[in-house]
Amino acid sequence: MTRRIADLLRNGQPNETVTVQGWVRTKREQKEFSFVEVNDGSSMAGLQVVVNQDVPGYAETIKRISTGASVEISGMLVESPAKGQRIELKADAIAVYGEADAETYPLQKKRHSFEFLRDIAHLRSRTNTLGAVFRVRNAAAAAIHNFFQERGFLWIHTPIISASDCEGAGEMFTVTGFDLTKVPLTDDKKVDYSKDFFGKQAYLTVSGQLEAEIMAMAFSNVYTFGPTFRAENSNTSRHLAEFWMVEPEMAFCNLQGDMELAEAFLKHVFQHVLETCSEDMEFFNERIDKSVLATADNIINNEFARVTYTEAISLLEKSGRTFEYPVQWGLDMQSEHERYLAEEYFKKPTIVTDYPAKIKAFYMRLNDDEKTVAAMDVLAPKIGEIIGGSQREERLDVLESRIQAVGLDPAPYWWYLDLRRYGTVPHAGFGLGFERLVQFMTGMGNIRDVIPFPRAPQEVEF
Ligand code: 4AD
Ligand code: MG
Repeated sequence: MTRRIADLLRNGQPNETVTVQGWVRTKREQKEFSFVEVNDGSSMAGLQVVVNQDVPGYAETIKRISTGASVEISGMLVESPAKGQRIELKADAIAVYGEADAETYPLQKKRHSFEFLRDIAHLRSRTNTLGAVFRVRNAAAAAIHNFFQERGFLWIHTPIISASDCEGAGEMFTVTGFDLTKVPLTDDKKVDYSKDFFGKQAYLTVSGQLEAEIMAMAFSNVYTFGPTFRAENSNTSRHLAEFWMVEPEMAFCNLQGDMELAEAFLKHVFQHVLETCSEDMEFFNERIDKSVLATADNIINNEFARVTYTEAISLLEKSGRTFEYPVQWGLDMQSEHERYLAEEYFKKPTIVTDYPAKIKAFYMRLNDDEKTVAAMDVLAPKIGEIIGGSQREERLDVLESRIQAVGLDPAPYWWYLDLRRYGTVPHAGFGLGFERLVQFMTGMGNIRDVIPFPRAPQEVEF
């Protein structure tokens, strides 16, 4: 029976007859036998296979095997005399699916830079680090679903093609069916989207929040988890043009409840990843960032810091630091400010609340001071903002004047306003940048290395 290697390393017993399939990591030829290490992606560790020269077709098969080749090997598990592994496989039969020419196969035994690996994203998942990243990514995604499902949240599926700008920031990619060499224009020389596929301008969504709010007004607690897109020209280690976002939305909930959910949520996801990916997390702690395990422990076992924007600004002013960007009430916080707060001042995840209305999106609920909104950002050490959320403006008149105040046309938001006309309730939600979370968990320095196929300015392949 074909078995996954992770299963064999954990549960395999001497004298069991098994078959494994995978890719060769290393081959070492001795006089009368060879060692072949096979990995099938189920774990960081591969299975050590001993191939004796009496295995049928030995000489010819061993010649065809090199790093990267795909193989199927059957044999018997035996106790391993080598250090660091409980069992190994004594091969009876070995078949090669596909060779990998050692002259040209780019992943040889040496350590490659992440930049180099990014250019061969079709092969890099076969390396130790990227393999560990994508197993952690999978475990985190599973934990996210578990967390919400256990709490009775409905998983809804918000659209990828959208007609509205959720963040009102105009950082959207247009989706068009036009032949771009023959775009129809109106009399005043604007693009005539009424002739386009959808009959109006459509975009790749920047967030599923507005649609999630619709669904929360029927199911109370919902979440969406899918790809989102930003056409901002940010070439940083924390921005992607396509990233995944987790967005819960809760009816009958205020900012306090929103913060509590966000904190319980992050704790749950870290806990699950530590439990299910311990080998990978130890690898990150050893090879990528020595603080990874301590950070996880800190998240799980300590309460997050909470501070208002106004208090945060005064902490920054009193810090005695010279920052590159100005610190002043009313200005947006830059990542150097966020990192000072979370990394140096509080030394743990920090929730900043009640930002000035002027620097936040139109849908956030206006506080009684009429200057700030019921917003909250969760700042993580080393990363900065990983979650952005708020209580939503549920009062029709206030929402209408906020839309006007930020200079948006209220007409396309008619349905969003309808939610305030018919059965409006206090509600709140947040968005977690999934790749930033994976970065935070693994200590990976560049966000392009925690998504299989990164999309960023001047970067799209595959
Ligand atoms: O703060 P943002 O823009 O919030 C929203 O989109 C809300 N509609 C969410 C909600 O309340 N339902 O984005 C949320 C998170 C950020 O905190 C950040 O982690 C991540 O999404 N994010 C990005 N991640 C990678 N690349 C980018 N370009 C990102 N922009 C935002
Ligand atoms: Mg934000």
